[in-house]
Amino acid sequence: MNANVAKLMNEQINKELYSAYLYLDFSIFYEQQGLDGFANWYMVQAQEERDHAMLFLKYLQLNGEKAELDAVGKPDKEMKTLMDPLKFGLEHEQYVTSLINDIYAAAYEVKDFRAMQFLDWFVKEQLEEEKNADDMIKKMELFGNDSKGLYSLDSEYAARVYTAPSLVL
Ligand code: FEO
Repeated sequence: MNANVAKLMNEQINKELYSAYLYLDFSIFYEQQGLDGFANWYMVQAQEERDHAMLFLKYLQLNGEKAELDAVGKPDKEMKTLMDPLKFGLEHEQYVTSLINDIYAAAYEVKDFRAMQFLDWFVKEQLEEEKNADDMIKKMELFGNDSKGLYSLDSEYAARVYTAPSLVL
């Protein structure tokens, strides 16, 4: 593999594991507030992020690269309101989208069509990630200030179940 593309993918393993850690932190925050549905939503999200990390690891391995794991940073978002994690979540996903785009650009530059095809799944996934995060903010703005509305949102998020990623390597 091109050294730069491999390096960026290796770094992405760490970024995705950090995402899992960040969402786990959100889950802990909501559990403490008694919102088990929101806590569940982010617990499932954390599992998905771990899957993303594993996909990058597997891709590197299939291509004969040795991955190197780095330390995962401590989630340091200061959450004070029920809205805070949702806003941090959208910001974070926009950042992850920029990282995926950077890897894509690096692959494009060296005509690494295989990497681009692999990354296509992540490009699409990021649209979904940003849309989900944005929807959660909108719903919280609309219904979050009313206790019945909040209860109903929490019930909706309690129903989220983990499914394995559609991309299989
Ligand atoms: Fe791995 Fe939420 O993107």
